[in-house]
Formats: sequence, C-alpha cells, structure tokens
Amino acid sequence: MKLLHIDSSVLGPHSVSRQVSAAIVDRLRQASPGLDITYRDLGTTPLSHLSGSHLAAAQGAPAQAELAQDLAAGQAALDEFLAADIVVLGAPMYNFTIPSQLKAWIDRIVVAGKTFKYGPQGAEGLAGNKRVIIAISRGGFYGADTPAAFGEHLETYLRWVFGFIGVKNPEFIFADGIQIGPEYREKALAGALQAATDLRAA
Ligand SMILES: Cc1cc2nc3c(=O)[nH]c(=O)nc-3n(C[C@H](O)[C@H](O)[C@H](O)COP(=O)(O)O)c2cc1C
Repeated sequence: MKLLHIDSSVLGPHSVSRQVSAAIVDRLRQASPGLDITYRDLGTTPLSHLSGSHLAAAQGAPAQAELAQDLAAGQAALDEFLAADIVVLGAPMYNFTIPSQLKAWIDRIVVAGKTFKYGPQGAEGLAGNKRVIIAISRGGFYGADTPAAFGEHLETYLRWVFGFIGVKNPEFIFADGIQIGPEYREKALAGALQAATDLRAA
C-alpha cells in the first residue's frame, strides 16, 4: 500500500501542520509497517505556478528545455498522487486559505482526464479510491458559531477540491487558535497529536 505524505508549511521545524502530518504518518506506519511512503515537501521544493506555456504544451505545443523539465516535475507530482492509496497532507492557513505552494501542487493534480472528467451529469471525480487525511493548522478559530466563519477558505476549499476529484470524505485533524497564545498553541497541538494517534489504521 502506498502513502503519499505532503507538507506545505513554510515554517520548517516551527510548523504545527508538519508536526501533525508527521504524527499521522507515524501512526499509520506503526499500524502497517509495510507501507511504501513517498514524501514531498512543497515548502522547500515548490512546483512552479501554471502559465500559458504550460497549458499550450498540454495542448501539444513544443516545449523548450526549461519548460519540459517543469512539465516533467508536474507529471511526477500527478503520477505520485495517482499511485497513492493514502494521502496525508499538512495544510496551514495563510491569509485565510491554503499556501500558494499547495495551490501550485493542486493545479498539477486536478487534471481533466486524469483526476476528473466532464460527462452528461457534469464533473465526475476519478480519484475517489484514496483515503485523504489532512492536518489543518490555523492561527484563529473558524467554527460555524464564530464571527470569522465566513472567512474560512482553507478547510472549505480542500473539502471542495478533493470532493471534485472524487474524494468525498477526506478526514481532517485540526489545530486551531495557534496564534492566540502559547497555552492555546500547546493545547491545540496536543489535541491534534492525540487525534493522529487515535486514527484508524491504514
Ligand atoms: C503568512 C501567514 C499568514 C497567516 N494567515 C493566517 C490567517 O489568515 N488566519 C489565521 O487564522 N492564521 C493565519 N496564520 C497563522 C497560521 O495559520 C498558524 O500559525 C498555523 O500554525 C500555520 O501552520 P504551520 O505552523 O504549519 O505553518 C498565518 C501565518 C502565516 C505565517
């Protein structure tokens, strides 16, 4: 069974989502020692943003060497995602949504004919055979009963985009209120690490 572990925080060892995503992978590895794990760090090794040249090349336009290399990197990200049975994703909130590095990755894996297609009923996801577990970390609180609920575009976006490609029930672990104060951070991190330990096995 293949597990793809992805981090997208730019905060290195200070990152909360990195600690939680690592704990999730540890939990699954302990439960299934034979897991084949691939790690991708979008914080240190981001994919470039899509451009018109990428889209033209996808339509068959010839690509110069530099673009060809970039297209190959995008294809590798897509192949890795398609091959994974389980995806563990560290997803911090930056400016109310996902980091731009994570968006650049999503732009490479949401591909017509590969992870979704359009049919008579509209869009149909093609990647629904995966278990997706997402470690969310946010500076504040965004519950439905909070004034900031309307500004939440991280969890809502990820639910939508994974649903669009067929993953209807992504699992979430939350570490919220990280920037409110040290005691909030400690409590949120401890709760998220415990939730990782309690996850069902692979
Ligand atoms: C550039 C940047 C932007 C942020 N924007 C928000 C935000 O819009 N809302 C929020 O609640 N927290 C925000 N935060 C706080 C982070 O969500 C919080 O620190 C979280 O732990 C980040 O995850 P990480 O530690 O894995 O990077 C921001 C942090 C950074 C570094």
